[in-house]
Amino acid sequence: MIKIAPSILSADFSRLKEEIEALEQAGADYIHVDVMDGHFVPNITIGPPVVAALRRRTKLPLDCHLMVEPVDPYIPAFVEAGADIITVHAEASKHLDRTLQHIRDCVVNSPSEETRSRFCRVGVSLNPATPLSAIQHVMDRVDMVLIMSVNPGFGGQAFIPEALEKVRQARAMIEATGRKIELQVDGGVNMKTVRSVIEAGADVFVAGAAVFGGGDYKKAVKELKREAKK
Ligand code: DX5
Ligand code: ZN
Repeated sequence: MIKIAPSILSADFSRLKEEIEALEQAGADYIHVDVMDGHFVPNITIGPPVVAALRRRTKLPLDCHLMVEPVDPYIPAFVEAGADIITVHAEASKHLDRTLQHIRDCVVNSPSEETRSRFCRVGVSLNPATPLSAIQHVMDRVDMVLIMSVNPGFGGQAFIPEALEKVRQARAMIEATGRKIELQVDGGVNMKTVRSVIEAGADVFVAGAAVFGGGDYKKAVKELKREAKK
C-alpha cells in the first residue's frame, strides 16, 4: 500500500486546525511534521508544543521528522507530545545506535501510562550526500527509513534525481532484513517525480508544495496517489 504524508511545513500556520482537518478529509495517511532547529538545518520551524496541540486534533499518525542536532535531549518531549513516528537524521547523532534505542527507551520508561501504552515507531533519515552504509548496522533498530531527495531546510525545492538509486538500494537493504520497514522519500515529490520514487521502491512519500500549492488538497492527494500507483 502506498501512503502519502503531507508536510505541514507548507500549511498556513495561522489556521493549523483547519489545515489538519482538510488533510484528514483529503485522505492523508500521515501528517508529516518538519522540525527544524536553525543549527542542523538553516531554518527554524516548530517544536513539541505544536505536536501536542496537533495530537489533540487528529487521530492520523504524526510523522515527526527531526532535523535537530543534538537530537537525544529533545526526543522525550516529542514522545510525550504524542508522536507516532520519530525520525532522526543519521548525520545528527554521534552515536546513532544509542539515539535509536533512546527513542524506544523514552516510550517504555515514560512517566505517563498513556505514552507507555502507545507504539512510537523509530525512523532514520539520510541527507542526499550521506551513503546508505551509515545505517547498514542499525537496520534492526528501525521501523522506517527516510531518504531525503532535497537538502533539508525548506519546502518547495527541486527533487534530486540521484536519490532514486539510493531508494533502490535502500529497498534491497530492507528486503534483506525480512522485517517490515517502511521506506519514505521526502523532498520535491510532485506529479512529475512521484512515479519514479514509487518505482524505485518507496512506499511512503512526503509532499508539501505538491499538496498545499494548488489549494484543493483532496484533488492533489487523489491525483498524487493515482499517479503513484500507475
Ligand atoms: C525539507 C522537509 C520536507 C519538505 C517537503 O527539509 O523535510 O518535508 O518540506 O516539502 P516539498 O514537498 O515541498 O519539497
Ligand atoms: Zn520532512
